[in-house]
Amino acid sequence: MMKKKILAAGIAAGIAAFSVTAMADAVTDRQAAMKEAKQNFKPLVGMVKGKVPFDAATVKKNAMAIAAALEKAKKLFPEGSEKGEKDSRAKPEIWLMKDEFNAAFDKSIRLARAIENAGDVTALKGAVMALGGDGCKACHKKFRLPKKK
Ligand code: HEC
Repeated sequence: MMKKKILAAGIAAGIAAFSVTAMADAVTDRQAAMKEAKQNFKPLVGMVKGKVPFDAATVKKNAMAIAAALEKAKKLFPEGSEKGEKDSRAKPEIWLMKDEFNAAFDKSIRLARAIENAGDVTALKGAVMALGGDGCKACHKKFRLPKKK
C-alpha cells in the first residue's frame, strides 16, 4: 500500500519535472523561431531601404521562411509557459486572450505570404511595412513585455 503511494508520488514528481522542462523548451524554441523570422525579415527591409539589391527569388524565399517561422512560433505558447528556466517576455495576456493572440499570428502569417510575390521595390515596400507594423509590432506592443534592463 505504502509502496504504491510512494511510487505514485514519484511518478507525479517525474511528470511535473518533465512538464517544467517542456515549458522551458517552449520558451527557447519560440524565441529561436522569432529570431528566424527576424533574420529573414532583415534583408527585405534592406531592399526597401536600398541597402540590399532587389532580388525576387530572395523575396519569395524569405517571405516563405518568415511565414513558416511564425507558424512554428504560434504552436510554442502552451498554457503556463510564461515562466521557464529561460527568461521570457511573453505577457500573461497571451493566455487570457489566446484567440486574439492566435488571430494576430494568423494575420501576420497572411501578411508574410503577401510579400512572396512582390515584383518590385515599391510593391515590396508596402508589403514589408504592413507586416512590420500590423504584424510584428502590433503583436509585440500588445503581447510582449518590455526588455529587462
Ligand atoms: C502574435 C504575436 C507575435 C507576432 C505576430 C510576432 N511576434 Fe515576435 N514575439 C512575440 C512574443 C510574445 C515574444 C516574446 C517570446 C518570449 O520571450 O517568450 C516575441 C519575441 C520576438 C523576438 C525576440 C526573440 C528572443 O530572442 O528573445 C524577436 C526578434 C521577434 N519576436 C521578432 C518578430 C518578427 C520579426 C515578427 C514579424 C515577422 C514577429 N516577431 C511577429 C510575439 C509575436
